[in-house]
Amino acid sequence: MNRLPIIALDFNSSHQAVEFLSVFEGHMNVKVGMELYYKEGPAMIARLKDMGHSIFLDLKLHDIPNTVKSAMTVLASLEVDMLNVHAAGGSTMMTMALEGLDKGTPVGMTRPSIIAVTQLTSTDQQQLQKQQLIERTLEQSVLHYATLTKQAGLDGVVCSVHESSAIRDSCGDQFFKVTPGIRLLDGQLHDQKRVATPQDAKVAGSTHIVVGRAITEAPDPVAAYLQIKELWEGSNE
Ligand code: C5P
Repeated sequence: MNRLPIIALDFNSSHQAVEFLSVFEGHMNVKVGMELYYKEGPAMIARLKDMGHSIFLDLKLHDIPNTVKSAMTVLASLEVDMLNVHAAGGSTMMTMALEGLDKGTPVGMTRPSIIAVTQLTSTDQQQLQKQQLIERTLEQSVLHYATLTKQAGLDGVVCSVHESSAIRDSCGDQFFKVTPGIRLLDGQLHDQKRVATPQDAKVAGSTHIVVGRAITEAPDPVAAYLQIKELWEGSNE
């Protein structure tokens, strides 16, 4: 997937999503999550592809390896650009997810990138210890999952900006670090606890940023997108 900011289309109907995108010029990177996909299904993906957009289908698969492999084989036929699983499903599940994607990718097409969620950004240290019974720190758990993800042959992880640099150190520059929770300095936090600017993400080593409400709820979404894109690309220099 190219390095433009990825806009999270957190809408509950194709009508809203298409209307939102209609004011933008050119081809965008968009993220379709559970809400939109469960409502509108593969037809929504086909529509976005017809519009020329690149798609991160964020369904976070987590099941027994064989089921995830079969699901990935089917999802590969949608010809999206990026998909994801939960690293907590284990190494075999991740390897088989990759096999499923390879199997389902039409001949002559490039396999979609596949990344893993390590620990959700909604998980805190207390939940890690009391509910998952993990005695290590959140950061150690995230790094461990990122390493397992890399060993399983996946392309990268979803991570918070606070984890990107440690993951870059252990998994390298090429390994995708896809970072949500992006805000402009004067923006609202909404329900995100740990947010960062596009520049922070770049400095920390994120390879991609996912931006939802800072664009979708802005008074002028195109201006907000262009500002975020400029800050993100400008921080490459
Ligand atoms: O509106 P906002 O920019 O906070 O949206 C962030 C998007 O990234 C949402 O679609 C959310 O589900 C997703 N996401 C996240 N944190 C994660 C994984 C995904 O915010 N750890």
